[in-house]
Amino acid sequence: MYKNPKVKTCKINSANLLINTSNSAVVGIDDNTYKEYLKILDDKIIDTELFDFLVENEFISDKNNFTKNHDVSNAYIHVTDRCNLKCNGCYSAGERNDKNELALDDIKKVISNLKSLNLKNIIISGGEPMIRNDLDLVLKNIREELNPENLVVITNGTINNDKLLENILKYIDVLAVSLDTYNSKCEPILRGEKIFDRIMEFIDKAKSFGINISILPTINHKNSDFIAEYTKLSKELNSEISFSLFTVKPNDNNKDFVLDKSDLEKIINYYHDHEMNVTDVPLNNSLEGKCNCKTGEELISVGTDGSLYPCHMLMEDEFKMGNLLEGDALDLLIRNTKNSYRITVDEINDCKNCEYKYLCGGGCRARAYLNTDSIEEKDPFCPMYYGFFENMFRQF
Ligand SMILES: C[S@@+](CC[C@H](N)C(=O)[O-])C[C@H]1O[C@@H](n2cnc3c(N)ncnc32)[C@H](O)[C@@H]1O
Ligand code: SF4
Ligand code: SF4
Repeated sequence: MYKNPKVKTCKINSANLLINTSNSAVVGIDDNTYKEYLKILDDKIIDTELFDFLVENEFISDKNNFTKNHDVSNAYIHVTDRCNLKCNGCYSAGERNDKNELALDDIKKVISNLKSLNLKNIIISGGEPMIRNDLDLVLKNIREELNPENLVVITNGTINNDKLLENILKYIDVLAVSLDTYNSKCEPILRGEKIFDRIMEFIDKAKSFGINISILPTINHKNSDFIAEYTKLSKELNSEISFSLFTVKPNDNNKDFVLDKSDLEKIINYYHDHEMNVTDVPLNNSLEGKCNCKTGEELISVGTDGSLYPCHMLMEDEFKMGNLLEGDALDLLIRNTKNSYRITVDEINDCKNCEYKYLCGGGCRARAYLNTDSIEEKDPFCPMYYGFFENMFRQF
């Protein structure tokens, strides 16, 4: 019997965990069952429920040919860097705004060069995507050429273009509308302008066309007490909700918004009492095995000039893999398999002895890079991940 080399074992509290870091499957077993597992590896037992489970989930196999579960399935495509707002900490602002955005024909070339990947989830972002009058044609081309399971557009919900809004309906699955405040009386937080009422009108209009809405607040130091209010609003709007966490290279302009330890604690506490969907963190409602955040493996990001990057938060020259106007996505990825962002949690000094490392995967490489200038350091949100897993195992 062959053991999948991607399978890791560890003991947390009294549970032995077998963790398949390739396909994320995790199983917790007691000491007696663990002994049974060792006998299975030794070919001494070949017919138990455990054996069937292990084979089915590729922990073991009678042939040494395990599936490589590293298909790129998620892509961000940035269609413009132009924007009508100036939000504090926006990762699309700054030098990125100097790049020329592609004309529709060139975007079509980029889309065609993405066909070699089997993309399941495509997120259209920017700048502000609704600023492009030909956004519907971009989406139409993506639908025809790539036909992903989920095509999402992220918007700030402040551009009034009813015709465009109506036209995009037939191509997208969800319109994710970013939110700054949770009611119209709140002073602006990150977005600098009082835009809540405009966003609500935009959402009403989109809903009247039949578009599925998800709201997307960015949690930062100034609104971390109000997660419940955003959630309540999503219920009132009958929309989905997911949160992003304010992630920046700290400086004088953004320091008042940076999440501190007490904010991270509030987030975990909320997590434990409620279902919560947060982007770009290794926290799920069920255990998932991983040894890194899979940036550049399961996720890619395309810049406004067609450049290919491993992640929407790592769009720096040093991580650029090439340009999709000139080359096929799969070829570029294969040429870049040795890149530093593929580091595993065993290679991160501050993580390699952590008991939760194969559940956390060392957090987010982009967050580590932004905070420390090094892709190999610890993610600054570690206290949140550690607290999350600690609570979870306490409850076990
Ligand atoms: C870059 S914006 C582009 C789409 C659109 N203009 C909008 O604001 O929704 C996409 C999402 O990223 C979020 N975002 C931007 N900068 C961020 C940062 N530094 N940390 C966390 N989220 C950020 C925004 O709040 C928004 O929800
Ligand atoms: S609206 Fe979106 S792209 Fe524009 S500045 Fe704000 S976060 Fe950035
Ligand atoms: S919980 Fe913290 S120390 Fe442990 S692997 Fe995650 S980031 Fe590293």
